[in-house]
Amino acid sequence: MATDAMPRFPDGFLWGVSTSAHQIEGAADLREPSVWDAFTAEPGRVKDGSTAAVACDHYHRYREDVALLAGLGVDAYRFSVSWPRVNSPGGLDFYDRLVDELCAAGVRPVPTLFHWDLPADLDWLERDTAYRFAEYVSAVVRRLGDRVGTWLTLNEPAEHTLLGHALGTHAPGRELLFDALPAAHHQLLAHGLAVRALRAAGAGDIGIANSHGPTWPASDDPADREAAEFYDVLLNRLFADPLLLGRYPDGVGELMPGDVDADLKVIAEPLDRYGVNYYAPARVGAPRGAESEWGGVRLPAGLPFSVRPIEDRPLTDFGWPVVPEGLTELLTGFRDRYGDRLPPVVITENGCSYEGLDDQDRIAYLDAHVRALHRAVEAGVDVRGYFVWSLLDNFEWAEGYARRFGLVHVDFATRTRTPKASYRWYRDLLRAQR
Ligand code: FCB
Repeated sequence: MATDAMPRFPDGFLWGVSTSAHQIEGAADLREPSVWDAFTAEPGRVKDGSTAAVACDHYHRYREDVALLAGLGVDAYRFSVSWPRVNSPGGLDFYDRLVDELCAAGVRPVPTLFHWDLPADLDWLERDTAYRFAEYVSAVVRRLGDRVGTWLTLNEPAEHTLLGHALGTHAPGRELLFDALPAAHHQLLAHGLAVRALRAAGAGDIGIANSHGPTWPASDDPADREAAEFYDVLLNRLFADPLLLGRYPDGVGELMPGDVDADLKVIAEPLDRYGVNYYAPARVGAPRGAESEWGGVRLPAGLPFSVRPIEDRPLTDFGWPVVPEGLTELLTGFRDRYGDRLPPVVITENGCSYEGLDDQDRIAYLDAHVRALHRAVEAGVDVRGYFVWSLLDNFEWAEGYARRFGLVHVDFATRTRTPKASYRWYRDLLRAQR
């Protein structure tokens, strides 16, 4: 970790932490099932065979968790609202209590309206799901809109499409490869309809949380460069271009269902902020006729690219390379690509999985990434906030409880919370920034 003082971020910069409903809430008996409950119940889907039925039991312990947020001194807390819970009697009451508790603690609530836990009877391959989403969003904003000023529509539609619908390593477990593209389009449409529903209810500060990372060609060979460009389109531009430019990258729109041009007008509703989840870049080359692997996910041989290891970099416990300058590169690249169309950026997730309470490796990771973010600010990118993933160790999807991303350790036998060294480091960083 660098020992020189952390540079100051602009006044009003929002410091926070992120979580998501399915990963922390538990209380599965008090909500309708989601696609994740069905997926988790299938043997072999989650590596340690665990479920999120109890998870961190945040549903019952939210007061303790809000006290942890207050102790950390964050300005804001990004959590997600569970659509299956809102569909259940009394479900919205929980978020009502949570928002009240946050406001009383002086922490700004920043809800994400969809973080992968789709109600089990819905399907993103169906266009109607987008309209159902807008109805659900209207119900949420009617109830919480008097206290919530900042909204995020979707979390990482790219990963939800790729892992959930193309490769089948996440719920709903489909392996459709490129036939998964309609799931991306319908999520983007859902986003646009949700923006309209939020605006109609008077909401003034709206964004989305997309995952992005620089794509590095494996070499200067034209075949590697072409493959890397394809990957960049799939993971970055497929989601950012329609939102920010109102069009799909060349060749993609033809693959989407429905009246794409009309839908793009909805999808490109102006945003107040653009959320970026950043973990690592990808090194990508031409296909090699064999499986490749990214961050523990196996990519089939038939894809028009192969992901290569990033060597000479430390790896987190998850095997993700630690590349802080990738964040600077990503943000300056976005500014260059999208110019005035890019709204102020907020880093809605950044973090790493490491074991242990004295988590010096997490401190080093976060320290380096916050500095890299500051370099983007110095380079003129309008960045307004940074949220660490995550407040708590939690249910890390197909990895179960094996990956610990929290600033706070959770003992999954007793649900006891214990702040880690990184919690104290972040608290001290925030104090110094005031
Ligand atoms: C992101 C997800 C989040 C968490 C982190 C580690 O892709 O949005 O829920 O799983 O990765």
